Amino acid sequence: MTDSRNYIRYNENIEVIQPNEDEINKKVVDSMARVNRLMYEKHRHAIRDAHSKSHGILKGELEIYDNLPEHLAQGLFSKPKKYPVIVRFSTAQGSIVPDKMSAFRGMAIKVIGVEGQKYLDDLSHAVTQDFLLVNYPIIPTGTIKEYLKAQEKIESHADSDLLVQKIAQKAAVGVQNVLAKVGLADDTNELDAPGPHILGDTYFSMAALRYGDYVAKINMKPLSENVRELSGKKIEDAIIEADENAFLTSIIADFFKSNTAEYEMGAQLCTDLDIMPVEDASVQWPEDKSPYQPIAKLVFFPQKTFSPERRVYADDVLSFNPFHCLPEHRPLGNIMRVRKLAYETSSKFRHLMNARVRVEPKGIEELPD
Ligand code: HEM
Repeated sequence: MTDSRNYIRYNENIEVIQPNEDEINKKVVDSMARVNRLMYEKHRHAIRDAHSKSHGILKGELEIYDNLPEHLAQGLFSKPKKYPVIVRFSTAQGSIVPDKMSAFRGMAIKVIGVEGQKYLDDLSHAVTQDFLLVNYPIIPTGTIKEYLKAQEKIESHADSDLLVQKIAQKAAVGVQNVLAKVGLADDTNELDAPGPHILGDTYFSMAALRYGDYVAKINMKPLSENVRELSGKKIEDAIIEADENAFLTSIIADFFKSNTAEYEMGAQLCTDLDIMPVEDASVQWPEDKSPYQPIAKLVFFPQKTFSPERRVYADDVLSFNPFHCLPEHRPLGNIMRVRKLAYETSSKFRHLMNARVRVEPKGIEELPD
């Protein structure tokens, strides 16, 4: 087990700008925006460029642990405190597809009541801080060069029918095979493989971020027994068949009719930039060199997770953005840097076309029941 002397200290040279970075970033974002406009025309409603379909919007509490050692007591985690949070569960596609189609799943967390100036100029006075996590430890397209290739494949099939789109997505990121390898999808030869229970997954930042004086990846894993037992648990066929479009929404809603659930947030600190690189997020940081160490607990109480008012608020009014954070938690590496323009472009178009003002909540009471 490493002690604090081995953790790499954050400094500006940790990040290395890549050749033709601005040009590649522009190509990625322009391609995403073109696909997004097609989606707008299809639905006559603007949706997110990625993670457009939400499955549950939850109110929760993030409790920063007391007595964290110096290397973990950084930034938001420097003092023990309970913060209200809004969590949006989603799947990764930039189109609205049946839940039966395999995909990475997202957990976006908006922490409310965070004092201090934020990283993005236009949100510098907001009292929120976002964390965006996906149910896989790495991003297979972990550099902007690889991401551009995948994005161009998606664009080449974006206006074709659903099946072709499924194949394109599969080819683009190898999602199905990647997920199946770690038990997150059922069958590598099946395109319609819905994966296990969404509440049993562990969610990761996939790429690095600044962790105060250090550099880390973040995760959120099931803690209470009732969600731990859902890890890898197959969703019953009868539930899927009852509603192939929206069974993920219904299993979250059913669970939280009566249950309280706890998840634990962890930070994996970088100890060696050669084996734990910041500029290639397709490399998994070995946990035997540096494990995820507990920093906070997330608690959800029973609630209604998908009322029409909540869905509209989360899908159309809110935005989650990895760069909307304290400067102590700014994202790091080229796959993160491209996200700065990507999220801004997607959110601006969505709010413009739906004639909605983007809101950063000042209190949890702004989340409709
Ligand atoms: C590196 C790991 C990544 C993670 C963990 C991640 C996670 C997420 C999550 C959870 C959401 C849903 C947010 C919500 O509920 O509003 C999201 C949305 C989005 N992601 Fe990512 N993502 C990653 C990489 C990328 C990359 C490389 C790009 C593009 C270059 C990208 C573009 C987007 C866009 C455009 C949205 C929609 C933003 C909006 O309209 O508000 N993501 N991402």
